[in-house]
Amino acid sequence: MKTLIINIKQLIQVEESPRQFVAGEAMAHLGIISDAYLLVEDERIAGFGPMKELDTEAIYAHGDEIKEIDASGRLVMPCYCDSHTHLVYAGSREIEYIDKIRGLSYEEIAKRGGGILNSAERIRKASEEELFEAAFGRIQEIAGFGTGAVEIKSGYGLDTESELKMLRVIRRLKNETPLLIKSTFLGAHAVPAEYKGRQTEYVNLIINEMIPMVANEELADYIDVFCDKGFFTVEDTDRMLNAGMKYGMRPKIHANELDYSGGVQVGVKYDALSVDHLEYIGDEEIKSLMNSETMPTVLPGAAFFLNMPYSPVRKMIDAGLPVALASDYNPGSSPSGNMKFIMSLGCINYKMLPEEVVNATTINTAYAMGVQQETGSIAVGKLANFYITTPLPGIEYLPYAYTANVIETIFLKGEQY
Ligand code: NIG
Ligand code: FE
Repeated sequence: MKTLIINIKQLIQVEESPRQFVAGEAMAHLGIISDAYLLVEDERIAGFGPMKELDTEAIYAHGDEIKEIDASGRLVMPCYCDSHTHLVYAGSREIEYIDKIRGLSYEEIAKRGGGILNSAERIRKASEEELFEAAFGRIQEIAGFGTGAVEIKSGYGLDTESELKMLRVIRRLKNETPLLIKSTFLGAHAVPAEYKGRQTEYVNLIINEMIPMVANEELADYIDVFCDKGFFTVEDTDRMLNAGMKYGMRPKIHANELDYSGGVQVGVKYDALSVDHLEYIGDEEIKSLMNSETMPTVLPGAAFFLNMPYSPVRKMIDAGLPVALASDYNPGSSPSGNMKFIMSLGCINYKMLPEEVVNATTINTAYAMGVQQETGSIAVGKLANFYITTPLPGIEYLPYAYTANVIETIFLKGEQY
């Protein structure tokens, strides 16, 4: 089956030779073709270029059935990759939202048994089926916002059975939705109530029981630790990453959200695919990230929602680093998976240019979840995951019109969604 999209006003994020990610000064540049066509064959991108180079005779020569779409006045964007979410959860946490409005901090709420432990209580009571249904709804929601690939973490179970339950839900989402999904084991999200005051024993449980069982069922692509003030120490993190690596789980770390925690450095030490949050980043952290293969990932939704200090994104890009932006979709610190809004926050709060936020939410997040060979840009051979906008002036309009729904048609794996 072929689909030919013609008269595209701007075809965005095209790559002749696909890159791993985009860093530093290059983040301000995007491959854009004006008045373009895009050819899809089965689930992949088969060709693209300027309309004047479109060889219709060659495309129609084999007598195949071809669906043609006229995209006059419209843009075509690769689908977002959202490389950091916790979208398997049971129940929302708007009561804590009120506590926050009244002035309690994230740490204070966590100390009172709110926060992650609140979600843990609920997830333990929920059935796998209930969790699947709720998460499936959220997948449909984010697909409608233009996300085509998503990483999903466990971390609200905090006991072996409930962590496995979450990961099995993610496995089902992988099999039953057209999105490209990666799963991450985050048993070290918080110390559960029954281990209060016995953190090391909980870390031992993760190392000796959870990691081997997760690996045995091949339930996780990656391993994550919340390495931060009041949560897990660098020493705990070092031990858990070491154990995970033995089973081939590459780290993706929650780091430096609440303090200069050492999380970035320990992540780089274990060749983490990404270190995420990064509100507290100084020269030491930047130095450690330079010449590493670790993607610095900022979560503007969480910083916005919790009123946290903003990560020094300009300083990181100016130093030559790549930056990725993900949603952190979760019930506590970022109850939204809208990546277009994340782009707007990137521009407004972090002073990123529209071109930079497009790179940060497509190719760089694809790298941060290990799917850059498959998606993250418009390139021949990559999955046909893209959306066609409503008629728009140009790429800058996307982050500018920060609540407008600009999506007209979505393609996932070559099929209209
Ligand atoms: O990424 N920072 C740690 N974990 C989550 C929050 C989870 C929650 O509050 O439920 C985050 O923001
Ligand atoms: Fe998170």
